[in-house]
Amino acid sequence: MCGIVGYIGKQKAAPLIIEGLKRLEYRGYDSAGVVVLEDGAFNVAKKIGRVANLEGEAARHHFHGTFGMGHTRWATHGGVTDANAHPHVSSDGQIALIHNGVIENYATIKKFLLGRGFTFKSETDTEVLCNLIAYHYAKEPPAAEGDSRFVESVRKALHHAEGTYGIVVMALAVPGELVTARKGSPLILGIGDGESLVASDVAAIVSRTQNVVYLKDGEIAHLRAKDFSITTVASGEAAAHVIDKVNWSIADAELGAYAHFMEKEIFEQPVALENAMRGRFAEDGSTAQFGGLNITANEFRGIERFMFCACGTALHACMVTEHLIERFARMPVECDYASEFRYRNTPLYRNTLFFVKSQSGETIDTLAALREAKRKGYKVLAVVNVVGSTIAREADGGIYQHVGPEVGVASTKAFTSQLLIGAMLALYIGRMRDLSFGDGVQIVNALKGAPDLVRRVLQQAPHIRAIARRYAHYTDMLFLGRLSLFPIALEGALKLKEISYIHAEGYPAAEMKHGPIALVSEKCPSVFLVPNGDIVNKIISSMQEIKARKGPVIAIASESVELPAGLADEVIRIPECHDAVLPIVAAVPVQLLSYYIAVERGCDVDKPRNLAKSVTVE
Ligand code: F6R
Repeated sequence: MCGIVGYIGKQKAAPLIIEGLKRLEYRGYDSAGVVVLEDGAFNVAKKIGRVANLEGEAARHHFHGTFGMGHTRWATHGGVTDANAHPHVSSDGQIALIHNGVIENYATIKKFLLGRGFTFKSETDTEVLCNLIAYHYAKEPPAAEGDSRFVESVRKALHHAEGTYGIVVMALAVPGELVTARKGSPLILGIGDGESLVASDVAAIVSRTQNVVYLKDGEIAHLRAKDFSITTVASGEAAAHVIDKVNWSIADAELGAYAHFMEKEIFEQPVALENAMRGRFAEDGSTAQFGGLNITANEFRGIERFMFCACGTALHACMVTEHLIERFARMPVECDYASEFRYRNTPLYRNTLFFVKSQSGETIDTLAALREAKRKGYKVLAVVNVVGSTIAREADGGIYQHVGPEVGVASTKAFTSQLLIGAMLALYIGRMRDLSFGDGVQIVNALKGAPDLVRRVLQQAPHIRAIARRYAHYTDMLFLGRLSLFPIALEGALKLKEISYIHAEGYPAAEMKHGPIALVSEKCPSVFLVPNGDIVNKIISSMQEIKARKGPVIAIASESVELPAGLADEVIRIPECHDAVLPIVAAVPVQLLSYYIAVERGCDVDKPRNLAKSVTVE
């Protein structure tokens, strides 16, 4: 979604801001802009398309000032045009604004402002908010000391704004100061050496400072190069804050020798899994332990059921966790799309423990589901990757994934670490109930072995790439799996369609007869997940049904599965493993297959069309 970067310091602002915007490119956007206050005027450059286009435009603007801000826009109100790109400047020329989010009552405010002589150049809700700030700025009496009317005018405008926002504001009369505020859209202050920054994502500023303050909803910050203050939007009272240290560096968010972030992150998975499990097994070697759940073992024993909510890939991880909790702990679990749960009015039983999973910790639907569950009085725990994110902060407790920044829009290492943490959670809950010490030890050992099994699958990358070359021209594909691999089939289909634009569907293998089999022909290959287990012969029967209808078959099968001759056109082998680890091991070939097919088709893998890394609008 949209990205924000602001800078005040001694360096030339525009190159720093543009560099920051490049680091936010992975979030998805369709235009970009920058403004620098210099020579007593706002120097604004904006351009549709990539940040590279903006860079070209910026060269013509001869930016030299040391104070400014930039934005990447993912269109919501108004089409993708230069005029609609941010920053916006108020029609009286006094205020410049960049904004993530949606101002829902923009039409009413616009009408009010049109009646007071303000004019508009764009179709955006952002320009409306910009003019509203200018309106209040013009009305606000100058303060005796400093220019507090800048902050006050932003605060007053926000009192009338309904919706979500992460904003950064500049005032022509107040060089060297930025005002920034948030409600539902993340903002992080960077506290540098004689310089201050603000961004929607740590990645944009971590090259300049690792000292950050995560702004909270309902807070407004006033930044200068050497100091900052935070107050509440509602009352203007001082708000307490802590300066956190980011625990990763810019090198973690760089491509290195890889062609794409997605490729890098697929290959990082063994290490990501090691990081996600580090220190999280109990000393007796039979269960997991988590530091931040904020729920006592006794409270946990009182829980009678679980509800999991998430979106997209993270929901697929929840579905696998559902399977494993049922299996290891024999407890009922329900999973739902966060976007549905928030409006469904699902009846929840009294002793339900609510979980959300989110890589970014900012997905608005997941956040809304969390808030809805909390409002109903339930305790909500979160599995989150991004430290300090809104979901991490609002949850009652949780588990950090610790896999470092995930830059590729298509989630990979965050997914497998969510699978791992889900398995550890199932083990933890199981061991509190009927799962024996011996079974617990077996699962712990299996999970500890997961990184090496993933390494073995990764060694097959050249083989999978060769298959991808043969299948890249198809326009439809089915992914079929059963039990804990059904969500992996869903994930395979999601990965393929989001990065290669091939229509793909994930289905439980046996369910395929009830509809999707109509799609099967020599033009529609099926990817089957075939682990060795109780129902392997049933899966093989489903493969035969596809083959009988001339559908090409790709089998991702355990090493010990004997496939009838000629049944599969392509075979990718995965190592034998425990059920707790199987979904992790099976996820890797579907990731690689989708990745190589997308590369083969010449797709922009890390920036797929229409998609955003973290979906902060509804
Ligand atoms: C797909 C993908 C998305 C996200 C979804 C939730 O590859 O990445 O489906 O999984 O938008 O995002 P988070 O996990 O950040 O809440």
